[in-house]
Amino acid sequence: MSEKNILIAPSILSADFSRLGEEIKAIETAGADWIHIDVMDGVFVPNITIGPLVVSAIRPLTKLFFDVHLMIKDPINYVDQFIKSGADMITFHIEACRDAREIIGRVKSKGKKIGVSIKPATNADVLNDIINEVDMVLVMTVEPGFGGQSFMEDMLLKVKEIRKRFRRYLQVDGGIDKITAKKAVNAGANILVAGTAVFKESSYKQAIAGLRG
Ligand code: DX5
Ligand code: ZN
Repeated sequence: MSEKNILIAPSILSADFSRLGEEIKAIETAGADWIHIDVMDGVFVPNITIGPLVVSAIRPLTKLFFDVHLMIKDPINYVDQFIKSGADMITFHIEACRDAREIIGRVKSKGKKIGVSIKPATNADVLNDIINEVDMVLVMTVEPGFGGQSFMEDMLLKVKEIRKRFRRYLQVDGGIDKITAKKAVNAGANILVAGTAVFKESSYKQAIAGLRG
């Protein structure tokens, strides 16, 4: 997997949860690169979604890379559980943790990838001290908490600014569709998370291909 290619990571938040297993297999067949798993705790964000039990239940169904986006307060407390459940990458919010280095060290010591995310109101400068320690930066292009929101165009500047000094995975999440995908890629993003733009389409294959541009 080259970091120069654009990777598509469908967010299962928009999947039909009553048929989650089938949905996972369907996006794998349709050409998804990663599976994006949105974990929310009702504290850091005003919604509650998926826990480690669900991650371990879907782990045997696919070989795809599990990109686990933790939107939870004090993420360090749950890192071990999510890794045990099958996460390949843990992305935490810098706004939600007390010691970013601690969580980075913990995830790396378990041989997994580590990502750091910033909310729309958070300045990219907060990443200065740790940016060289992480595999991925996730720039939120909506306020975290819910799928189906509109892409915040002004986040493109933040993506550009980070791309100038960061050569690894740069992910965008929120409001990504065919049109905003292009803009994000032009700004320097190379991993696109999409919930609505994949799962609300009748052909997942066409939807994923459309996002690749
Ligand atoms: C928002 C989540 C996103 C969201 C994306 O808090 O992190 O992954 O589900 O959904 P869409 O693509 O519908 O904006
Ligand atoms: Zn997400």
